[in-house]
Amino acid sequence: MQFYDVIENRKSIRKFRGTNISKDKIDRMITAAMMAPSWKNQTSYKIILVEDKHKRDELSNTVMNKTDEAAQSIKDAPLTAVIVADPKHSGVVEEREYYLVDSAIAMEHFILAATAEGYGTCWVGALDEDKVRQVLDIPSNYRVVAMTPVGEIEEDKEHYPKKDIKDYVFLDSWNKSYTEEMCKIKH
Ligand SMILES: Cc1cc2nc3c(=O)[nH]c(=O)nc-3n(C[C@H](O)[C@H](O)[C@H](O)COP(=O)(O)O)c2cc1C
Repeated sequence: MQFYDVIENRKSIRKFRGTNISKDKIDRMITAAMMAPSWKNQTSYKIILVEDKHKRDELSNTVMNKTDEAAQSIKDAPLTAVIVADPKHSGVVEEREYYLVDSAIAMEHFILAATAEGYGTCWVGALDEDKVRQVLDIPSNYRVVAMTPVGEIEEDKEHYPKKDIKDYVFLDSWNKSYTEEMCKIKH
């Protein structure tokens, strides 16, 4: 899949089939995650791949809103990737904690690679961190940043509408709109 098709195809998917994912595909997703930039190349994060059905069921219970479709999706998809990081292994500049940035970039690389392989994903951030630590035996110095189910898409969906370009892209200074006329891409 071409890069911009991957970008276009990535959506938060919450309905999955249980078909297994081959190891070579998982390896490519992991390789993509490991290519991400990180603070001083410290890769403060670790990615835990969870295939075990019992553990996925337990992880599903860590989703804060139990009616959230994301909770069910973790049970249904054959794989959940959990990203955790030790803040001490990354930097802090003016209170900006870069372990979150390291993790987010790596996770998005992983998600885009999964998309390129034809799979659905959904970033799940509203989770009970202590429960996730318990389920996966994660040491207490690691923060749980996010998890995503990965699997064949059972039900696709339209993209959520995004904001108008003029509301979030500026040119040269604050609030000077980079207008839609200047941007050839309509969305
Ligand atoms: C930091 C972050 C946390 C999120 N947490 C959740 C979550 O807990 N549950 C969920 O269903 N979706 C979650 N999402 C997915 C967003 O709801 C989704 O990205 C957004 O609605 C835009 O839709 P799209 O991903 O299809 O473009 C999260 C996304 C981000 C970036």
